Amino acid sequence: MWPVKEKIIVFDTTLRDGEQSPGASLNVQEKVEIARQLEKLGVDVIEAGFPASSPLQLEAVKRVSAESTAIVTALARAVENDITAAWKALSQAKKPRIHTFIGTSDIHIAGKFGSDRYGVSLQEKRQTILNMAVDAVTFAKTFTPDVEFSAEDAGRTDQVYLAEIIEAVIAAGATTVNIPDTTGYTWPSEFGRKIADLHSRVSNIANAVISVHCHNDLGLAVANSLSALEHGARQVECSMNGIGERAGNASLEEIVMALKVRSDLHNFYTGIVTEELYNTSRMVSTFTGIIIQPNKAIVGDNAFSHESGIHQDGMLKNRQTYEVMKPESVGVPQTSIVLGRHSGKHGLKSRLHALGYDVQDQELEVVYKRFVDVADKKKEVFDDDLRVLMGDERKKPQSAYELDYLHINSGTASIPTATVRISHKGQIFEESAIGDGPVDACFRAIERALSIESMVTSYSVRSTTAGRQALGEALVRIRDKNVSFNGRGVSTDIIEASAKAYLQALGLRQHHFENNITETIEHGV
Ligand code: KIV
Ligand code: ZN
Repeated sequence: MWPVKEKIIVFDTTLRDGEQSPGASLNVQEKVEIARQLEKLGVDVIEAGFPASSPLQLEAVKRVSAESTAIVTALARAVENDITAAWKALSQAKKPRIHTFIGTSDIHIAGKFGSDRYGVSLQEKRQTILNMAVDAVTFAKTFTPDVEFSAEDAGRTDQVYLAEIIEAVIAAGATTVNIPDTTGYTWPSEFGRKIADLHSRVSNIANAVISVHCHNDLGLAVANSLSALEHGARQVECSMNGIGERAGNASLEEIVMALKVRSDLHNFYTGIVTEELYNTSRMVSTFTGIIIQPNKAIVGDNAFSHESGIHQDGMLKNRQTYEVMKPESVGVPQTSIVLGRHSGKHGLKSRLHALGYDVQDQELEVVYKRFVDVADKKKEVFDDDLRVLMGDERKKPQSAYELDYLHINSGTASIPTATVRISHKGQIFEESAIGDGPVDACFRAIERALSIESMVTSYSVRSTTAGRQALGEALVRIRDKNVSFNGRGVSTDIIEASAKAYLQALGLRQHHFENNITETIEHGV
């Protein structure tokens, strides 16, 4: 037993780094709803976005700031414009934090600061970057006392230089200093040593909280984060379901449950209400369109299922034989509450509320109508059906294309043919096409109708619940100008779900380019 417990600050970056996952763009309402759920979950810091990257990002951070009681932070490169945009977005936050960063490894310096205006030799460039970091922190401090600095690619940054830059930003007023393993390159014991070594080199380190932000390129993000905590880090940056750039970030649920389940090994605790993990995970998956692998630790469908006879027998005799934590401790529902066509609006509203969705009266009318449609087609409506309905509902404002009509002709002895009618900004587009199968025919008809080339890079369909009448959920990812968009469609008819998913992805693409979001958020100045 450990005498004194130390709180680990949980910094959630689902809405920022998580949203940088390919195709995962979230609209403002979705961000607000996820932020509400993150508060319920008890995270200490919500990183809500990168305001300088687009007006939509700015708006989303503003809305999250206005509502949240947790610390809300926004990312800014180490330049005045970004910091000003971050502050503009955060100014209504009850506890605002500006998070500014700059690349510090030689690889980043060579790649991003190659121009002579940053200096000619590596030594000169390093000095320029150090000065930029200090200036950024000093400037951010003019807006708020709570300023975080990140040394991007710290995992591969020369340790002596890293210590120097950290000492300088702390002296300039940074209250949190983040050591990101941006490329997921480090090894747990190595990363732990890095943190311990900084504690011995940086004379003023006690004046700031040391944070870590680990990416998962080698599958080590959680292990690296835990090792860092053992060696002096006290804030951990992570995301729900581990989503984020490339292979993602350290998964929040895994870090939190590892700390909780193995509390015999350390004296840390978090403020996370672990029973909210499951709902949060499902909401993030629904809104981002990124499905959770079945064997994902803590929140995957199989995380608590026992298949083999030996395991099942062991579980019946004593759950501890094959279970290190109880499913209910992470909020996995033990009994399934089922709604049906006779369920009223009140029942629907309270079920949605239990799943983390706040539905106000006007919206409830719309959602209820959709619910009744589904309940008419399938007798029982499960939680997962409601989640996909809500996911669909929330994406609607961005669905610039409406599927008015779909006719499919398909069978063992006929050529699959599809006819679609789509409305878009008051115009009607109608076309037919044949294809290799009904979905292919449908996608070709959509492409013909809208005069576009095929942009589909991935397509999948699955049923949201068991049973023949289950809702079908289709996911379509498209790519244009190096940006990916995920569309999701839901229906008891999987061809219709597929058409809707494609149209939704096209709608998101249009929204993106119309709003002048010219680039995905890239790390660096
Ligand atoms: O991975 C990274 O280095 C980041 C920083 C901007 C914190 O996301
Ligand atoms: Zn990152």
